[in-house]
Amino acid sequence: MDLSPDAAFTAQANGTAAMYDEAEADHEGFWARQARERISWSTDFEQTLDWSGAPFAKWFVGGELNVAYNCVDRHVEAGNGDRVAIHFEGEGGDTRTITYADLLAEVSKAANALESLGVATGDRVAVYMPMIPETVFTMLACARIGAPHSVIFGGFSAEALHTRIADAEAKVVVTTDGQWRRGKAAPLKAAVDAAIHHGDDASPVEKVLVVKRTDSEVEWDDDRDVWWHDLVDGQPDTHEAQPMDSEHPLFILYTSGTTGKPKGIFHTTGGYLTQAAYTNAVVHDVHPETDVYWCTADVGWVTGHSYIVYGPLANGATQVLYEGTPDTPHQGRWWEIVEKYKVSILYTAPTAIRTFMKWGAEIPAKFDMSSIRVLGSVGEPINPEAWLWYRKHVGHDTAPIVDTWWQTETGAIMISPLPGVTTLEPGSAQHPIPGISAEILDDDGNPFTEPEKVGYLVLTKPWPSMLRGIWGDPERYRETYWSRFGEKYYFAGDGAKYDDKGNIWLLGRVDDVMNVSGHRLSTAEIESALVSHPKVAEAAVVGASDDTTGQAVCAFVILRADAVEEADEPGEGGELVQELRNHVSQEIGPIAKPRQVMVVPELPKTRSGKIMRRLLRDVAENREVGDVTTLADSSVMSLIKEGMSGGS
Ligand code: WT7
Repeated sequence: MDLSPDAAFTAQANGTAAMYDEAEADHEGFWARQARERISWSTDFEQTLDWSGAPFAKWFVGGELNVAYNCVDRHVEAGNGDRVAIHFEGEGGDTRTITYADLLAEVSKAANALESLGVATGDRVAVYMPMIPETVFTMLACARIGAPHSVIFGGFSAEALHTRIADAEAKVVVTTDGQWRRGKAAPLKAAVDAAIHHGDDASPVEKVLVVKRTDSEVEWDDDRDVWWHDLVDGQPDTHEAQPMDSEHPLFILYTSGTTGKPKGIFHTTGGYLTQAAYTNAVVHDVHPETDVYWCTADVGWVTGHSYIVYGPLANGATQVLYEGTPDTPHQGRWWEIVEKYKVSILYTAPTAIRTFMKWGAEIPAKFDMSSIRVLGSVGEPINPEAWLWYRKHVGHDTAPIVDTWWQTETGAIMISPLPGVTTLEPGSAQHPIPGISAEILDDDGNPFTEPEKVGYLVLTKPWPSMLRGIWGDPERYRETYWSRFGEKYYFAGDGAKYDDKGNIWLLGRVDDVMNVSGHRLSTAEIESALVSHPKVAEAAVVGASDDTTGQAVCAFVILRADAVEEADEPGEGGELVQELRNHVSQEIGPIAKPRQVMVVPELPKTRSGKIMRRLLRDVAENREVGDVTTLADSSVMSLIKEGMSGGS
């Protein structure tokens, strides 16, 4: 199979081979050029990078800009007001076409509305919404005012919402009455109410702005709650965008770390927008005049921030926004959307591709997908089998696939092939893009390049869209990312290796972070949810490999003595197990619900009391249990295996 770039593709590609050399020769000069060519500044910057306060970076110092102006107004000013910004496709088949001129009016109204609720520059706004146009309007309205948003994925529970609202001290929450899921209305505002009335804590939330989406029954607090249609619709459709400092915070996004407490990753204005726009241009190869782009991520994750809202809109692209699930009302829904809007660039996750593989190639074959010219993958390593299926059945064996490695923390794509430039290698994210530098280190922190040796991925130079810290916790930022290998290296938390062609292969997390369907979950967070249940004495959670979701949550629990008596058989059947699975769902959200909960008499621990998750993973993956010699009590593993055999 020839995976070298096609000459016709190369001729039109935004990315070029020369960019690697330019960036190599002058790292800061390269980024300064991206910032000036792709972004409109109301005040030009004086210094490209200030790294004197490392690891706290400042990019494009002294520059001023407004992100919403860059994503909306300037396209209208340039005469492209009639271009479609968003083709919205509701789950139930309702649609809405939003041009850049419409977007300007909607964002302006939303900005006026937020200001009327008392939101000012610097105030935080929590956004807990489904995939509907108002979510994009809200995010851009926040950016317009300079009020950092904190979007919380709609699949998180009231409990998780509470923690995030409290940590960010959000003054306003924007939500909907409910969200459509497989034809049913699931409540959303109810979780906001519960998050605000949480225990005895006083909530920072003053106002809740509610979009009517499902027409569901909601509880109402007249002093606090405001309907979107009552407030926003009547606002003036013009609003003056104020320039913000390049380093003004744009958003906070919570992600799981190795401890139970989620980290509020925060990003700022100029550097973030520059790299979001640049990568969407050179990696997705978006040509705004001709392409129809579709990123299937939820805006509740960083992929949705950078590659639904900020990157494509900064570039003036036309995109699809789809509210629903891939199998509603049938398993060909995505391909029907591709055919309907003539989607030319599709950006999705390996877990989705593996699901489509399971459903069968005859489903996409029923639709006209000849419009597809670039495919992207993100969130976890894509196995070569899924890569080849994607290429064949979605990309008619010709579309280049970009496997993009990055993180909430990196803000934008870091390692990926450039379509039209790179000869592709199925399963590998391949090389740092121009302007980015990465290395692989051994245990002692020495870089190496030998093929097939496994090490740790690090980033060696600051980049514009890097996180500026963890909200309210600068020390944790330093410790988490800049201490494992000293202050010179950003430690990503991923294992990696080179192949004999010098391609980088990402090998998954090396810390206690799991990746389930491309969603990041922390073992510690799920463990603490489990032990908060009155019947659980101790819990250990591992990510076990799963054919569809990449990894799946497997929990091992020890019950409290009084609970053991009333418990059903040990193992993973029975009511108690269901109760514990539901408990996790309630504490964190359905995405964290364990695939399996196994009730065990003991957990394998080292002499110093550390749980040996490696051994539990062996059990969860049905493997021969590995080396047990460092266990304090080496009989524990046979106890666990014995106890379980009666279960499932
Ligand atoms: C972690 C970051 C990037 C946005 C979505 C996830 C894993 C991400 C890839 C890829 C191998 C990948 C890493 C990373 N990851 N993309 N192309 N190949 N692994 O963002 O929730 O911050 O998770 O996702 O393990 O550290 P996130």
